[in-house]
Amino acid sequence: MVSRVIPVDPFDLVIFGGTGDLARRKILPGLFRRFCAGQMPEGSQIIGAARSEMDDAEYRRMVSDAVAEFGGGRTCEAGTLEAFLDAVSYVTTDAKGDGGWVELNGKMRDSTVRAFYFSVAPSLFGDLAERLHRFGLATPESRIVVEKPFGHDLESARALNAALAQHFHETQIYRIDHYLGKETVQNLMAVRFGNMLFEPLWNAQYVDHIQITVAETVGVGGRGGYYDKSGAMRDMVQNHLMQLLCLIAMEPPAKFEPDAVRDEKLKVIRALEPVDWHHIVRGQYGADENGPSYREDVEDPKSRTESFIAMKCHISNWRWAGTPFYLRTGKRLKARASEIAVVFKDAPHSIFGADAGRHRNVLAIRLQPNEGMTLDVTIKEPGPGGMRLVDVPLDMSFADALGPDAEEVPDAYERLIMDVIRGNQTLFMRGDEVEAAWAWTDPLIAGWQARNDVPKTYDPGSSGPEDALMLMHRDGRKWREVKA
Ligand SMILES: NC(=O)c1ccc[n+]([C@@H]2O[C@H](COP(=O)([O-])OP(=O)(O)OC[C@H]3O[C@@H](n4cnc5c(N)ncnc54)[C@H](OP(=O)(O)O)[C@@H]3O)[C@@H](O)[C@H]2O)c1
Repeated sequence: MVSRVIPVDPFDLVIFGGTGDLARRKILPGLFRRFCAGQMPEGSQIIGAARSEMDDAEYRRMVSDAVAEFGGGRTCEAGTLEAFLDAVSYVTTDAKGDGGWVELNGKMRDSTVRAFYFSVAPSLFGDLAERLHRFGLATPESRIVVEKPFGHDLESARALNAALAQHFHETQIYRIDHYLGKETVQNLMAVRFGNMLFEPLWNAQYVDHIQITVAETVGVGGRGGYYDKSGAMRDMVQNHLMQLLCLIAMEPPAKFEPDAVRDEKLKVIRALEPVDWHHIVRGQYGADENGPSYREDVEDPKSRTESFIAMKCHISNWRWAGTPFYLRTGKRLKARASEIAVVFKDAPHSIFGADAGRHRNVLAIRLQPNEGMTLDVTIKEPGPGGMRLVDVPLDMSFADALGPDAEEVPDAYERLIMDVIRGNQTLFMRGDEVEAAWAWTDPLIAGWQARNDVPKTYDPGSSGPEDALMLMHRDGRKWREVKA
């Protein structure tokens, strides 16, 4: 199966923060891979913009190094790195000053798609939007791409939305959640809405519960200062896990179109019940021979920010009333693994008797590593000696199913940037979605702050604090193993 490359129109893409970590690790290498795949049309240009003094040649060297380090080393069929670099230039630009803007404007062309990637701190979003307008770079068709975190709470998210809305229409704003660009996440929609098999069972009558796990092995590393003001709830749950939950829980949209999909996601967020504080477990990793504790990492011995969170949520609508959604995410856990597991109910009556044991179908959607899906089905254990049942996985790994072409599947950033150029907002968060997510998140955070809740310490390399296991055990359920 060959992944088809659908060409986009020639574009002018300005990357504000073009010298930063995200630009070097993801955006620029991603663009190079799209160039290699033949998706970046001739006549397109990529312009880095930041305060650092640099000429085009120096910037191209930086881009070349970034591609070498983070490009993944794929073969490039459409041309050479030099040909790609020919399309790259740099303008020293200050988001808070007036330097560079006239020169930047001079590079813009009328007949190409204009996109402005805000790969800078959110505190600069308003300045950039205002200057894009004031210096005449923004046209009614141009697009802006904004990175997470989109706000720290509802109030700051509203302020950001309002600052952008002064100069750009909602149809021009692309709020990135890179989880939505993952192949498996989109496959989730294909599986749900492209097959007859699952959707009839996709409700509280047949689904016992759903687990969403995003586990990381790394600690906060050099991001301690930022992370300690945020925590797992703001950094992961409010955006990434919430988006996954929406795609799992939403009603079928009438069409696979941006607002149709986003309307359905919004309904899910609005139907989320406040979470009982007994159903939230927060944790912080301790120290071990491989690294310092969370509190040492963030250099605050009294920090109460969580590096792990697990919670049980409910969606109050007809489809999901009574089916819990268990979410968990954390750092320095046993394995780097993200998955969504839909655990179906037991068969209502076992004709094989009590000895056959309890068997459940589980549809597990793996986001990483080894993107794919597994469906556990119950079969007879082979051999003589009666009817013993065993669960076996029907396993579909994309790498196996697609063969060598799987390597050519674009990563999340590549896909999302091309969607921006195409003008397709389906996989981007709308302003009201982000605000609704914060409106659900804020009271939970305020609740544990008011209770002076202290996160439980957990062993690095574990699955999180014991209390998180208990959250499931109390309900007679079990987390799936965190494994790579
Ligand atoms: N890194 C990641 O993996 C990651 C992942 C998800 C989201 N994000 C988000 O993406 C954004 C960028 O993150 P990052 O990690 O790339 O940050 P970073 O490494 O600190 O880079 C910041 C960039 O902004 C530029 N900059 C700072 N002040 C500026 C100003 N006044 N005018 C113009 N440019 C300015 C910097 O260049 P100069 O100093 O030369 O101006 C640099 O290019 C942040 O919002 C972050 O939260 C990052």
